[in-house]
Amino acid sequence: MFVGKSLVLGPIGAQLDEASAGAIGRAMKAASFKADFAKSLEILAPAGLSMDRIVLIGAGDGLPGVTDFLKLGGAAMGALKDVEEISVIAELDAADIGAGASSLIAMGMKLRAYDFDRYKTEKGQPKEQKAASNVAILCADADGAEAAWQEDCVVADGALLARDLVNEPANVLGPKEFAAKAKALEALGAKVDILKQDELEELGMNALLGVAQGSVRKPRVAVMKWKGGDKDAAPVVFIGKGVVFDSGGISIKPAAGMEDMKGDMGGAAAVTGLMHALCARKAKLNAIGIIGLVENMPDGNSMRPGDIITSMSGQTIEVVNTDAEGRLVLADLLHYAKEKFEPRFMINLATLTGAVVVALGAHNAGIFSNSDGLCEQLSASGELTGETVWRLPLGKDYDKMIDSKFADMKNSGGRWAGSITAAQFLKRFVGDVDWVHIDVAGTAMDSPKTEISQGWASGFGVRLLDRLVKDHYEN
Ligand code: BES
Ligand code: MN
Ligand code: ZN
Repeated sequence: MFVGKSLVLGPIGAQLDEASAGAIGRAMKAASFKADFAKSLEILAPAGLSMDRIVLIGAGDGLPGVTDFLKLGGAAMGALKDVEEISVIAELDAADIGAGASSLIAMGMKLRAYDFDRYKTEKGQPKEQKAASNVAILCADADGAEAAWQEDCVVADGALLARDLVNEPANVLGPKEFAAKAKALEALGAKVDILKQDELEELGMNALLGVAQGSVRKPRVAVMKWKGGDKDAAPVVFIGKGVVFDSGGISIKPAAGMEDMKGDMGGAAAVTGLMHALCARKAKLNAIGIIGLVENMPDGNSMRPGDIITSMSGQTIEVVNTDAEGRLVLADLLHYAKEKFEPRFMINLATLTGAVVVALGAHNAGIFSNSDGLCEQLSASGELTGETVWRLPLGKDYDKMIDSKFADMKNSGGRWAGSITAAQFLKRFVGDVDWVHIDVAGTAMDSPKTEISQGWASGFGVRLLDRLVKDHYEN
């Protein structure tokens, strides 16, 4: 149950306190419990009650906001790890907290309960998988909470799918295996096309193919289509960078930390998780997810620095650094999406630059856009989900930094403003479609522990974009 700074219990809490001869009130006093936000107090085997424990979660002062309910749920699950039966008393400061907030608490619990331990053994034997906790939420408007949960549950599933994909090591999850995960969305009613090497060659996706050519594992592009809107309505399109492993290629990365580059498909994972959510909750719009799945490896057949490739758009690119590979993959996908689907908007997600980690850390994704309106909508969705974004500038002077002596452009503008010049590169492929590039290098992977995540893969982007769609693009 939840307690605000007043330390006043709600109706059910007050009943339990009475039935236990004041055990809850006494415990709060004895422990000097201040109900600070997300702090917990555990009362074991309360006398006169059949339950094994009561856990109080502090809600701090003031009315909690939307993301606070997620965190309160997360804190509750953190305090109740490994408990099989959990009843959540959804009241605060003597009142019921409402259906929407109850569902958010459940969502926070589900997100916090996720742990990626599938490769941990007990003395060489696969670890016994613990059954999920059985959670009941006690709130006044049960029907309303149930309805909200129908949607929130599958959005959380999408975020957890994204986490799974990001956590999975690259030997297990190559382009082919990732494509199979995308294909599995057909069970939810999506139509999924998997484009292989020969089709990508036919389309002329030479920038994407250039990245893939050093790997023994062939590339895939997955196109996931959800039709929940009017037959002829223009779709919204989400595009993800899916570099299953980024060694840097011939411009090889230093050894230290290279293992993190199994997460260089965080953009593609978010797009897949988002499509899962939209299909599973039968979102009322047409949406398309496109992910470019490649591996960037050094090899006798790799691209070299200095190579010039002709992208699908016809524009030529001098590859001055084979480690600036994500933008090559996205360049062809953005052009393909624009030509083939005439989208309402295109949003791409990518773990694109180390520079955005330097600028914003793990607490904001960088956004770059040609549309003020989309940026405002995204910022609002960020505040509502806790997946926050911060806009960085674009402009002619930055664009000039990627002009090349030998080709139309080069794929790196150097260290300074590295995130912006990467975005300028992408912008050369979007035409006049409304577009946002979200650089999730700091937010999707190698993420800190929070109330709702046990760290590394965060699933960043799924809840953010589901919210954007729900609030602005459904009928
Ligand atoms: N995948 C990396 C960016 C990255 C860095 C993601 C750290 C997550 C954490 C990307 O492909 C890359 O290597 N970018 C280079 C670009 C440079 C060569 C112009 C970078 O950021 O250093
Ligand atoms: Mn790279
Ligand atoms: Zn990369």
